[in-house]
Amino acid sequence: MEIFIDTANIDEIRQANDWGILDGVTTNPSLVAKEKDKGKDFKAIVKEICELVHGDISAEVVATRYEAIMHEARILAKIHKNVVVKVPLTPDGLKAVKTLKAEGTRTNVTLCFSANQALLAAKAGAYIISPFVGRLDDAGHDGMEIIEEIREIYDNYKFDTKILVASVRNPLHVKQAALIGADIATIPFKVLEQLYKHPLTDAGLKQFLDDWAKLGQQIK
Ligand code: G3P
Repeated sequence: MEIFIDTANIDEIRQANDWGILDGVTTNPSLVAKEKDKGKDFKAIVKEICELVHGDISAEVVATRYEAIMHEARILAKIHKNVVVKVPLTPDGLKAVKTLKAEGTRTNVTLCFSANQALLAAKAGAYIISPFVGRLDDAGHDGMEIIEEIREIYDNYKFDTKILVASVRNPLHVKQAALIGADIATIPFKVLEQLYKHPLTDAGLKQFLDDWAKLGQQIK
C-alpha cells in the first residue's frame, strides 16, 4: 500500500519524507488555507512539495463548472509532472476528468462518499478515487465499508483507478485500508507518528538498553 501524507505543511512533509516512508502527498483547499500565514502562493506551495517528494502530489481545483475546472486543471498540471489534479465528484467534475484523461492529465476524484460515486469516477477515467472514511464515520456510517465495496466493484470490472483512503482519523483506518487492499492511504502527520508507536516497543527498548548498560561495553 502506498503511504501519502495529507497536508500542505512543508515542515510536516519534510519530516515524514525524511523517515523514508512517503510515496506522495495530498492537499485540499482547507489544508492549503491553514498555511495562509506563510504568505506563499498556492502554485509555489505545490511546486515546493513536488521538489521535496518524488511521487504523486494532489493539488485541487476550486472551480465547479466544467470550463473553469478545465482551465484551472491545465494550470495545475503544468506546475510539475508529478501533479495529480484533484477534482470534486460532481457531473462537471467527472466530465472534466474524462477530458483530462484524454489529454494525458491524471486526476484524483475527491469528496467520494459512496460506492456508486466511485463507480462513476472509474468510468470517467479517474487515476485515483478518494473516499472520505473519517467523515462517513463522523456521520454515523462505517466509512471502511465503502472501501470494501469499491475494492470489490473495481476488481469485478478490472478498473485500474487507484483507491486512496482519505479522511483517515487513526491507525485503525490505516490497518483496515491495508487489509482490504486499498492502493493508497493518505494520512495526517499526527496519525503517521502514531503508526510507529507501541508501548511494548518503548518498554522493550528501555529494557534492552538498561541490561546492556550493565555490561559496560560499547559496540565500536
Ligand atoms: O484531503 C482529503 C481528506 O483526507 C480530508 O479529510 O476529513 O480530515 O478533512 P478530512
